[in-house]
Amino acid sequence: MPKPTILVTRRLPPAVEARLRRDYDAKLNQDDRIYTSDELAALAADADGMLICTSEKITPALVEKLPDRLKVIATFSVGYEHIDIAACEARGIVAANAPGTMTEATADLAMLLILGAARRSYEAQQLVRQGQWKGWHATMLLGIDLHGKRLGIYGMGRIGQAVARRARGFGMEIHYHNRSRLPHDLEAQATYHATLEDLLRVSDILSINAPSTPDTRNALNAERIALLPDGAVVVNTARGDMIDDVALIGALKSGKLRAAGLDVFAGEPNLHKDFLALPNVYLLPHIGSATIETRDRMGYAALDNIDAALQGRPAPNRLW
Ligand code: DGY
Repeated sequence: MPKPTILVTRRLPPAVEARLRRDYDAKLNQDDRIYTSDELAALAADADGMLICTSEKITPALVEKLPDRLKVIATFSVGYEHIDIAACEARGIVAANAPGTMTEATADLAMLLILGAARRSYEAQQLVRQGQWKGWHATMLLGIDLHGKRLGIYGMGRIGQAVARRARGFGMEIHYHNRSRLPHDLEAQATYHATLEDLLRVSDILSINAPSTPDTRNALNAERIALLPDGAVVVNTARGDMIDDVALIGALKSGKLRAAGLDVFAGEPNLHKDFLALPNVYLLPHIGSATIETRDRMGYAALDNIDAALQGRPAPNRLW
């Protein structure tokens, strides 16, 4: 029996590629060049499944061109805003993601952003690396305490809850907004706000952890930023398109916001150029899930979905 063929659209960790080679006829992307939609359609012509990343947009037009033999599209991500699920369903192609694989790594990174922004880490690094540090003084690079501050978590799913667990250890008071209130044990004494607006009013530090959907896109716009307490800090480890960049940059320039910590950007990697000139933004290049353990887990979860779909079992994280 020949092995099923899997089109793998990006370079993946060695252990994941080794499992792919072991179990499948894997069409790997050795140079990690991002394929165009036409290239994806051509490369998938003899594939039984695709293992994609968020860089590949699975549009209805592309789904239309996929061969009948293609049974599954598994994404190496939790977010699935790049996949048109309805189009996959209409063709009977299983679409699946990898939830729960990156919870702890992403929550760690949210704390790094919170600390980086609150403690002016970018400016501090610059001072040292550029040889400008003239020695300790009492008013140099003053940030803010996390202890006693109110952390507003927008999106209290797995990652939001993991951020809350960490932040409690820093002595922060946890507030959140979610589509629905969590059960008492999961809420763990966090304060629920039925609207995002109510959450913003009490968020000294706001952490965005909600998925990007048509309803959440541009959620943090100028009107909502105005509701945050003066001098608030905003961090985003979810998706860049949930923030109106121009409004955020304006608030960072005016001092309405003290600082921001951003790991994700609208149109990344081409982030708004004004971010680069702002000293009060702590910038990272979408590395929320970038740990060795987590990236392996993400790959194995994607492969578990592919294995199941091709063996006629329900994929563990099927999206339709
Ligand atoms: C995800 O899984 O959604 C991460 O942001 C990686 O793209």
